[in-house]
Amino acid sequence: MRFFVSALFFLVIFSYAATFDPLDPNGNITIKWDIMSWTPDDYVAVVTLNNFQMYRHIMSPGWTLGWTWARREVIWSAVGAQATEQGDCSRFKGNIPHCCKTNPTFVDLLPGVPYNQQFTNCCKGGVLGAWGQDPSAAVSAFQLSVGSAGTSNRTVRLPRNFTLLGPGPGYTCGRARVVPPTIFLTPDRRRKTQALMTWNVTCTYSQILARKYPSCCVSLSSFYNDTVVPCPPCTCGCQTKDNCVKSDSKILSLVGVNTPKKDNKPLLQCTRHMCPVRVHWHVQRNYKDYWRVKVSITNFNYRMNYTLWTLVVQHPNLNNVTQVFSFDYKPLVPYESINDTGMFNGLKFFNDQLMEAGPFGNVQSEMLLRKDKNTFTLKEGWAFPRKVYFNGDECQLPPPDAYPFLPNSAYQNLLSFSTFISLFIFFLIAIW
Ligand SMILES: *[C@@H]1O[C@H](CO)[C@@H](O)[C@H](O)[C@H]1NC(C)=O
Ligand SMILES: *[C@@H]1O[C@H](CO)[C@@H](O)[C@H](O)[C@H]1NC(C)=O
Ligand SMILES: *[C@@H]1O[C@H](CO)[C@@H](O)[C@H](O)[C@H]1NC(C)=O
Ligand SMILES: *[C@@H]1O[C@H](CO)[C@@H](O)[C@H](O)[C@H]1NC(C)=O
Ligand SMILES: *[C@@H]1O[C@H](CO)[C@@H](O)[C@H](O)[C@H]1NC(C)=O
Ligand SMILES: *[C@@H]1O[C@H](CO)[C@@H](O)[C@H](O)[C@H]1NC(C)=O
Ligand SMILES: *[C@@H]1O[C@H](CO)[C@@H](O)[C@H](O)[C@H]1NC(C)=O
Ligand SMILES: *[C@@H]1O[C@H](CO)[C@@H](O)[C@H](O)[C@H]1NC(C)=O
Repeated sequence: MRFFVSALFFLVIFSYAATFDPLDPNGNITIKWDIMSWTPDDYVAVVTLNNFQMYRHIMSPGWTLGWTWARREVIWSAVGAQATEQGDCSRFKGNIPHCCKTNPTFVDLLPGVPYNQQFTNCCKGGVLGAWGQDPSAAVSAFQLSVGSAGTSNRTVRLPRNFTLLGPGPGYTCGRARVVPPTIFLTPDRRRKTQALMTWNVTCTYSQILARKYPSCCVSLSSFYNDTVVPCPPCTCGCQTKDNCVKSDSKILSLVGVNTPKKDNKPLLQCTRHMCPVRVHWHVQRNYKDYWRVKVSITNFNYRMNYTLWTLVVQHPNLNNVTQVFSFDYKPLVPYESINDTGMFNGLKFFNDQLMEAGPFGNVQSEMLLRKDKNTFTLKEGWAFPRKVYFNGDECQLPPPDAYPFLPNSAYQNLLSFSTFISLFIFFLIAIW
């Protein structure tokens, strides 16, 4: 028994720590290097970042890509991105390289750079869209001209130790692997060309590497019970509590208070949960064949606008969504047989941006779900979501025994009996 419990505990911890997201099992960011030409000892490569994650994008201030050269390679020039540091190029005379560091770090250029510094899919300030939302926005690319690099696919050495920040930590990148060369279509689409050599690096995200605490929480309410179940206290850690701002504070009328800080430091509204974002799920109506839910997302950070936000919800009735008002909805089918997860995002020019905390810092929608007579119930918290993610990070739900009860004494007795049983089991484990 004790072995079983600790094994279970280990499994839970392990599954949380692993870089694996059950709602997006194939999600990753792939970095692809295509060598387009060789010159004696130099090559020109196109580096492409593809975000294959369904609902996790890279927000402003954007991605940072680093690697370590295998030998003494230098970067003569870069188009569409730039190295953050040039490093020591004193061994060169005349032509000075763009970057001489053995571990260069690259960032995207900002929109609006001169035409001759641009490259296809570049210059978006490092913002990389989510694949499930807009595949055409989920790609970023730049061109490098690399020197002291070998003269052919036999002498070139793959860079090592790729790192991806997006913009904070959370991504882990694997080794570069040589893959079949990429095939390109010429602009008139009548001729195919191919890269001279291609290698790929795959990076995956883990929330636990990204941050110690959740970054959002869920509160619940229903038409059948007046209790609003709030987010658990200090869900997102209370270290920032000393600097939080009351919503009626005079500070908020000062000019520049909303300007984002370079280090992305938030300025949070004081709440018990201290989360930058809260998702509220309200079970609104129960009709004969349908039921209705209202979802609202509130931003508590005065220094952050969330552009192209995503909300992912797992609930067994999402296979029968009939109508979603004022959000876009798209079912995600991570496993062929299960259709219980979906992604919501804002409507373009209407609410695809979740504004900074304050009077406009929220977005909301209602949805109508068709009841499946065999599964639908208001009991045991069934009507509440199983998992909620905002911008790809899982939100903390309240403990299940705190969910709004259906006013039905028999059910409450049942629940308190099961609470009693579980307490008893905990007690047994504790004295073991
Ligand atoms: C990365 O994502 C793509 C698209 O989902 C998938 O085809 C590929 O297998 C993934 N790569 C790895 C190493 O998981
Ligand atoms: C290197 O190039 C040769 C032809 O030049 C090709 O046959 C070989 O498969 C290439 N190797 C790799 C690893 O791309
Ligand atoms: C790559 O990173 C690992 C661990 O961070 C380090 O031990 C190793 O020396 C690095 N390799 C290179 C070539 O920098
Ligand atoms: C390499 O990455 C590209 C996307 O950048 C992907 O289309 C391709 O399937 C990957 N190749 C392999 C063998 O994983
Ligand atoms: C959010 O966007 C609005 C309008 O686009 C802008 O006025 C405001 O300064 C932005 N706030 C932040 C924190 O970036
Ligand atoms: C999943 O459910 C949605 C309704 O939310 C439906 O439109 C879609 O066809 C379903 N997909 C599959 C594969 O069952
Ligand atoms: C709900 O959806 C499932 C599969 O998507 C379908 O088989 C079932 O008939 C639907 N139920 C209702 C009540 O529409
Ligand atoms: C509403 O739910 C709460 C649990 O969150 C419970 O304590 C309370 O008794 C319920 N109210 C009614 C009228 O059943």
